[in-house]
Amino acid sequence: MSNNEPAIQCSFCKRRIVPKSQYDLPIYDPRSDFAICAHCIKDIYHAIEAHEADQQDQQKVEAAASIDQEMANIKPHLVKDYLDQYIINQDRAKKILSVAIYNHYKRMKYGFDHKDDELDEIEKSNVIIMGPSGCGKTALLSHLAKRLDIPFAVTDASSLTEAGFVGSDVEVAVRNLYYAANKDVSRCEHGIIYLDEFDKIARKSGENNTITADPGHEGVQQALLKMLEGNEVEFTARGQRKHPEAPTIKVNTKNILFIVGGAFVGIEKIIAKRLKKTDSNIGFGAKIEGQSEKPEYNQLIHQVTPEDLMKFGIIPEIIGRLPVICTLETLDEDALLRILTEPRNAPVKQYKKLMEMDKVDLEFDEAALRAVAKKAIERKTGARSLKGIIEDTMLDIMFDIPRSDAPRRVTITEDCINNHTAPAVEEI
Ligand SMILES: Nc1ncnc2c1ncn2[C@@H]1O[C@H](COP(=O)(O)OP(=O)(O)OP(=O)(O)O)[C@@H](O)[C@H]1O
Ligand SMILES: [Mg+2]
Ligand SMILES: [Zn+2]
Repeated sequence: MSNNEPAIQCSFCKRRIVPKSQYDLPIYDPRSDFAICAHCIKDIYHAIEAHEADQQDQQKVEAAASIDQEMANIKPHLVKDYLDQYIINQDRAKKILSVAIYNHYKRMKYGFDHKDDELDEIEKSNVIIMGPSGCGKTALLSHLAKRLDIPFAVTDASSLTEAGFVGSDVEVAVRNLYYAANKDVSRCEHGIIYLDEFDKIARKSGENNTITADPGHEGVQQALLKMLEGNEVEFTARGQRKHPEAPTIKVNTKNILFIVGGAFVGIEKIIAKRLKKTDSNIGFGAKIEGQSEKPEYNQLIHQVTPEDLMKFGIIPEIIGRLPVICTLETLDEDALLRILTEPRNAPVKQYKKLMEMDKVDLEFDEAALRAVAKKAIERKTGARSLKGIIEDTMLDIMFDIPRSDAPRRVTITEDCINNHTAPAVEEI
């Protein structure tokens, strides 16, 4: 120790330091002589940094391991098996969605555990779903949501408006996902957003519409595009009014899988028109008609191209972000018949259960079910009207049956469905 310069001892390493500047002894309290030298602070800093890096690696390893586990549960054939329990037909759509979900998990896993010298990232493949009204689009997605462990939120796109218009801003879709993820931002950032009724935000000036100017819907599409491209989306908590000082939540949409769906009413006409043009140019006249006995819609819809969607009124930039096209078919009478009885939550099963609670065995004649299916076909709303048609017939029964406690059997016949005649009730 030199005598003429005041040395201060580091409380940790006991080095004696003659400070030339505050950086030599960044922490020093003259009253207690407590001091920490620059060496010690650097050492501590590096130790903390190394620890944090380790922790992050560990978290990634854990995340990847938990994804491994989850992936074993959501292999495409397993997801399809699950959907088969609820949704009749639409096999191709089920396959496409099962694979899209599986790939979403793979991509997530890759993001956690790929090596530095490998492919940077696997790009996501957002999905667009289309098919006629009541064919199972919304039902398919809501069952899918129940099956998955990652957050999944359904938002009705028709309620979205451009910022500044009456209605909800597009951020609502991300906010719904955030709540589906129990307010966990990092889970939210790997979730799935389903935008239902997506066709309702088509430009009104699309070929399918008559109005020529439509800034509102185009604005919504532009706002959605930002989200699809992967951006930081900022929104206020639920119930919070949007004002400049309101605290906001930020979510990056880069790794969120988007599935958009809608009926796209009239798209088949656009497809047919295009096919006719190219067909007559090349000279394959009657390629669309007479190929099989399938309804024309079902033949056309699978041939939809991005150009058709553009004509429908979706901006090309959005279409470019939806590489997977998933088409659903119209349901024929046989399919509707199966929907009445086969799914786990089939309408007939539900009414039987209700009647069972009154000790009543409810039976439907095969002809009665077929009559329901026929009526539903007439209404042109797919499977949507099935339940209403049965409800119509069941109302009087459900009203009168509880008058007595006796066990009975009620048989619904074709006549009950078509002419509203009262069904036979027997004591058993
Ligand atoms: N393929 C199907 N299998 C079983 N049930 C179905 C099927 N399609 C529709 N349904 C039933 O019919 C009802 C309406 O279907 P859904 O809401 O999925 O129609 P959608 O395709 O979304 O029509 P929209 O375009 O009008 O919204 C639901 O209750 C659903 O359970
Ligand atoms: Mg729907
Ligand atoms: Zn020290």
